[in-house]
Parts: sequence; C-alpha cells; structure tokens
Amino acid sequence: MRKPFIASNWKLHKTKEEAREFLNSFREKVKYVSDVEIGLGPTFTSLGTVSDGIEGTGIKLCAQNVYFEDEGAFTGEVSPEMLSELGTDYVIVGHSERRQIFGEEDRTINKKIHAVFEHGMKPILCIGETEKQRASGETESVLKSQLKNDLDGVTSHQAGKMVIAYEPIWAIGTGESASPEDAQAGCKFARDQVKKIVGNEAGENVRLQYGGSIKPHNAEVLMSQPDIDGGLVGSASLDPESFADIITITEEL
Ligand code: PGA
Repeated sequence: MRKPFIASNWKLHKTKEEAREFLNSFREKVKYVSDVEIGLGPTFTSLGTVSDGIEGTGIKLCAQNVYFEDEGAFTGEVSPEMLSELGTDYVIVGHSERRQIFGEEDRTINKKIHAVFEHGMKPILCIGETEKQRASGETESVLKSQLKNDLDGVTSHQAGKMVIAYEPIWAIGTGESASPEDAQAGCKFARDQVKKIVGNEAGENVRLQYGGSIKPHNAEVLMSQPDIDGGLVGSASLDPESFADIITITEEL
C-alpha cells in the first residue's frame, strides 16, 4: 500500500516569522491526520524554524533544492549534509522552475538525486512537459527522456522509496489544473517508465504525486485517481486552511 503524501512547495515565500505563524495554525488543523504523510517545503532560511516547529508531529521537512557536492568553492550553494543536519527528510529536485529559470539539466538533476540518497534523504523528482510539447504530442517522449536520464544509476531499492511529482508545466501556478484523466495518465505513464527503467517492484512502490494548481475544490477528484499517490502543492499551500483542507480531503478518500 502506498501511503498518500501531500507536500507543500512554498517557493520564494514566507519569512521565518511568517513560517512560524503558518505553523501555529496549521499544526492544530492536521493534528489528527494519520493516513496521509504531510511535508512542508520552506525556503532554505526557514528550514530550521520549520524543523523546530514540527518536532514531534510526524510532519516531514522538505527542502526545495540542493547542490550535489559535499563542500568546496561553490558560492551560494547548500550541501546535502547541511540539509540533513537541519532534519530534512525530502529534497525537491528538478522542479520546472529550476529547469526553466536556472537552466538545470537532467545530468545535474541525476547527480542531485544520488547526493540526496547518499545523505539519507529522499528526492521528490519533478518532471513534466510544457504546453507546446503537449500540443505537439510530445508529452510521453519528454517524460520518458527526463526519467531515463534523471534515474540513471538509481537502484530498485532507492527508486521504491522516492517520490516522483508529475507536474505539467502549463498547470503550475495557472489556477487551471490538469484534468483528472490527464493527471492520472501522466502518473501512470511515469510509473510504467519506472518499471521499465528500474524494475517492477520499484514501479509499484514509487509514489507519484500530481502537481499543478491543486486546490481544495479539485483535490478530491485528482487525489482519488489510482496512480496518484498525493500532491505537490504550491500556491494553495501558503494558506494553512487551504493546505489543511487538501490534506483532510485526501485522508477521507
Ligand atoms: P501550484 O504549484 O500549486 O501553485 O500550481 C505547484 C508546484 O509548482 O509545485
């Protein structure tokens, strides 16, 4: 059984003070949730605050990025060990904003995935196609190529423990989520690719999140799809009430 996993991606939002305020209200709202794994993805500077604030709650700490080297002359970067020291459980790797705005390539993403595993954390690998690629019928070839390159050298045991977020880029931050059919098809395709690349067992165990304009009003239909094991939530995760609603709606399914 794959336990649903709903994680927030706060992107470049919330100071430490704002993170504290969020937690004060959020913790209360989800204190009886036990059938959904919950993750919070603050900025690097709020990781310590959130880590302290979730102590003893079972909520997981997710970083939004990492560098793959342990240390050295890499100005501005943060190492896996530094994240792990703060209690980070998951690291979002290869988000489309990192790929598009910061030019991250599959080769780098693959190194980050290995670095995350080496330091005892788990990656949340983001994949997804642009609107143009979808319109020209390239969705499957894009997902296939991202997975093949990003998962290079990942073992079956590792892949079974990781999370893959299918996030069609045209659905991110637009308020227009993918249809449940398209979201399910993308997640199923990704799962089948994991089976082909890494093996059947890994494909059965890997959790597939959908991401892209998940809101309380569409959570039920998206989260009830058979190959969708949770969600990566951006805008709607900034508000404790709407993020908690998405989680409780998923728990009730
Ligand atoms: P969104 O972002 O929920 O605001 O669409 C999702 C994401 O980028 O992970």
